[in-house]
Amino acid sequence: MLSHLPAPTLDSIVAISLAFREDPRPEKVDLGIGVYKNSAGETPIMGAVKQAQAIVSETQKTKAYVGFGGCEEFNQCVTDLVFGDSSVKDRISTIQTPGASGALRMLADLIKFAQKDTTVWLTNPSYANHQPIMEAAGLKVKFYSYFNPNTKLVDVDRMLAELAHAGPKDVVVLHGCCHNPTGADIDFSAWKAITELATKNGFTPFVDIAYQGFGEGLDADAQGLRYMAERVSEMFVTSSCSKNFALYRERTGAAMVLGENAAHAANAKGKLFSLARTTYTMPPDHGAALVRTVLQSEQLTAMWKSELSEMQQRLLTLRQSLCNQLRNQHNTSQFDFIESHKGMFTMLGLTADQMVRLREEFGIYGVADSRINIAGLTEKDIPYVADAIMKVL
Ligand code: LMR
Repeated sequence: MLSHLPAPTLDSIVAISLAFREDPRPEKVDLGIGVYKNSAGETPIMGAVKQAQAIVSETQKTKAYVGFGGCEEFNQCVTDLVFGDSSVKDRISTIQTPGASGALRMLADLIKFAQKDTTVWLTNPSYANHQPIMEAAGLKVKFYSYFNPNTKLVDVDRMLAELAHAGPKDVVVLHGCCHNPTGADIDFSAWKAITELATKNGFTPFVDIAYQGFGEGLDADAQGLRYMAERVSEMFVTSSCSKNFALYRERTGAAMVLGENAAHAANAKGKLFSLARTTYTMPPDHGAALVRTVLQSEQLTAMWKSELSEMQQRLLTLRQSLCNQLRNQHNTSQFDFIESHKGMFTMLGLTADQMVRLREEFGIYGVADSRINIAGLTEKDIPYVADAIMKVL
């Protein structure tokens, strides 16, 4: 039977990460997978998370099962983090999931079950795992215009013109902040315009907020999502603790469903439980226990927020330094857009061949679509990377 299997193709992001590990060159730079690194090029465990780890190991008395939806205290904490003091929280159901990819899959399965002929609209381009996950759940996928390759910003007019054709059988995926892969975000007025279209034409928004806190701050990054949630009858949300708690390998995420009322939300939660049961039964607990411990302690929350804000500031500084280097040392304003992008990523607008040259000639690993992870840079890499970019142009 196995002879019928095709040769495997690797995920575009993970493949880059594996190839980087194999590269023996000391000057190599990993700008592939979305992982934050500090100025020493390390991805440390956050201080608040370390303290939470000590508390959990001291106080946890059992490793018995938790539940299909994971830890309910964690679910409450992350719902508060995403929705703030929004008035809709009584019609939201949340389950803890294995990372945000797990959340995407659970919600995709729920959508397929609730309305089997749904079409999911994704930004063009979108996170490399969005389309495969939606299709694996049996959903149809189409792309709507988003990134303008000339301005390297969002083409809001075109996006709104296309979204005007989405209707009740459609789910429209939006990135809550820090668009992956481009770094180009929609502003608040675009959130308002999309909300108006959703309420008028009846499509359901699905907000993937995997980078909350990396753009303009924890609350500012959720502003558009919160505005929308107050006005639409149904909405899906996935959130991740991989980045803002640096818990990558612990696979800690959440899937949230906003129903028209509390009963609809409860039914959705019941279905999510059975979907979890037939997929992985229950999510792993450790990461959720750490997040809950941080968020239930005022002192640890303050510490975590300050560490997160440091990471966000560092990203801004790295963006500015790369722009300055290109502007001042290479006399080009071609890459000024890097500074206006948000979060970890920037889409440089280089061709696939130019990205291959960056990798082969300089050991600089970005994704083939020209996404680079700004958070993978260290200060000392900046002149080298700027120089290499100019050489492959
Ligand atoms: C990325 O886009 O690099 C991250 O979200 C990691 C992943 O799961 O693909």
